[in-house]
Amino acid sequence: MEVRWGCFAGVFLVGLILGFAEISSGGITSSYVRNANLSLDMPLDSDVFRVPPGYNAPQQVHITQGDHEGKGVIVSWVTPDEPGSKTVLYWAENSEFKNSADGFILKYKYFNYTSGYIHHCTIKDLEFDTKYYYEVGIGNTTRQFWFITPPRPGPDVPYTFGLIGDLGQTHDSNRTVTHYELNPTKGQTLLFVGDLSYADDYPFHDNTRWDTWGRFIERSAAYQPWIWTAGNHELDFAPQIGERKPFKPYTHRYHVPYRASGSTSPLWHSIKRASAYIIALSSYSAYGKYTPQYKWLEKELPKVNRTETPWLIVLMHSPMYNSYVHHYMEGETMRVMYEPWFVEYKVDVVFAGHVHAYERSERISNIAYNIVNGLCTPIRDQSAPVYITIGDGGNLEGLVTGMTEPQPSYSAFREHSFGHGILDIKNKTHAHFGWHRNQDGYAVEADSLWLHNRYWNSFKASSVAAL
Ligand SMILES: *[C@@H]1O[C@H](CO)[C@@H](O)[C@H](O)[C@H]1NC(C)=O
Ligand SMILES: *[C@@H]1O[C@H](CO)[C@@H](O)[C@H](O)[C@H]1NC(C)=O
Ligand SMILES: *[C@@H]1O[C@H](CO)[C@@H](O)[C@H](O)[C@H]1NC(C)=O
Ligand SMILES: *[C@@H]1O[C@H](CO)[C@@H](O)[C@H](O)[C@H]1NC(C)=O
Ligand SMILES: *[C@@H]1O[C@H](CO)[C@@H](O)[C@H](O)[C@H]1NC(C)=O
Ligand SMILES: *[C@@H]1O[C@H](CO)[C@@H](O)[C@H](O)[C@H]1NC(C)=O
Ligand SMILES: [Fe+2]
Repeated sequence: MEVRWGCFAGVFLVGLILGFAEISSGGITSSYVRNANLSLDMPLDSDVFRVPPGYNAPQQVHITQGDHEGKGVIVSWVTPDEPGSKTVLYWAENSEFKNSADGFILKYKYFNYTSGYIHHCTIKDLEFDTKYYYEVGIGNTTRQFWFITPPRPGPDVPYTFGLIGDLGQTHDSNRTVTHYELNPTKGQTLLFVGDLSYADDYPFHDNTRWDTWGRFIERSAAYQPWIWTAGNHELDFAPQIGERKPFKPYTHRYHVPYRASGSTSPLWHSIKRASAYIIALSSYSAYGKYTPQYKWLEKELPKVNRTETPWLIVLMHSPMYNSYVHHYMEGETMRVMYEPWFVEYKVDVVFAGHVHAYERSERISNIAYNIVNGLCTPIRDQSAPVYITIGDGGNLEGLVTGMTEPQPSYSAFREHSFGHGILDIKNKTHAHFGWHRNQDGYAVEADSLWLHNRYWNSFKASSVAAL
């Protein structure tokens, strides 16, 4: 009797110790007290929504990567009165010779709204790591901007990405963009994790709020690519007013180079940029087995060459790990489908939005469950990504405050404040992530960690303190 009890206790103790070794119990729920006042959308006559002067002047100018490698740029803009010119003139800094590329024009109606003339023009075969100027418009209402192409993809190419999600167009949204712009660690490309304008929160999804949003973000998105992920606020599915085609405004306005990565839909695609391979997924498109998105991702992950692009980054809107009450477990079905692949292919970090708050996970996985074995608890896993929720851009719905208690052991840090992130890739083994809340000075990191590349690091080097 005594022997059996001792044995049992021994097993219990070992289990307890292993349990603590696998998952630290000390996640942080930040005690920062922010201003709880809900910020409204900036009024239509705000400076950030100003229409550029001149007849039919191009507005809402924005760029994104235009090919798979980073030598292409898609330039998009809207002309309000007439189609105008489809041409983009562009020239390298220190070059007199002006090249031109021709785009095409789209227009759409949504309930009783009619869009302006939406232009998309892909510029191809640019030089890597070069500053280009570009010009859109015609006659005396032309406008000039510039961008810098990324370095050629390669393992030790430093590059800095910004992260913003669920932005909207409130005063808080404006603070987020301002803090991103003034962050002394300059983001070179923005990874946007979905929920752009929140026009759908207006009666009849008033699409003029898509236009104001386009004018609002121009001050950043005309000069550096914003990489798009679709969120639920991009669905604009409203059969009650005759709008039955999901993603209509979004897919007309925001183009991505999806064909270059073999995708059949603009809602999921991948790009290489410097030392990163970025995969954007759609939480609101079918992702189960046999679906187009599933088949694409299944082929896509083995293609990633970590010698060329060591950093594998996944973007999606709905987080797979989220310990807030709001949207709790909404990402669960996609987690069941794709988490085993993320671990198998050693994804470094998964960024999501949707939950209007910030949260960072430990490196954990939960992929052992098979219906009958009962193994359904996240465990420490050094092949697993870090999951970061950054849906705190500052939209009119405000922050979510309710958290599941106690803080689950997989959750390393959580706080509901508005802000943005910076992923600063140093070389093929080290990247630094910082989360910046809007109430702090531009250089302050309210949460940060060193990411050690999952492919190029010996896992033994990782510790709880520095994952
Ligand atoms: C929140 O709004 C109220 C009412 O407008 C105002 O009195 C208060 O000062 C605001 N709080 C902060 C911290 O700005
Ligand atoms: C554009 O140029 C024409 C001809 O010079 C002039 O009449 C017109 O006022 C100009 N428009 C703007 C917006 O400057
Ligand atoms: C669209 O319809 C709504 C509701 O009838 C109305 O308030 C709004 O002014 C209309 N907008 C346009 C552009 O006609
Ligand atoms: C938005 O932020 C910019 C940059 O800080 C500022 O110039 C502008 O006045 C702000 N606009 C509003 C409506 O807050
Ligand atoms: C992976 O990339 C490296 C560096 O660009 C290259 O030398 C190698 O051939 C690539 N491997 C495959 C399988 O394509
Ligand atoms: C990579 O970057 C980290 C952080 O800056 C640095 O400590 C490390 O020495 C670098 N590795 C190489 C091989 O340069
Ligand atoms: Fe969302």
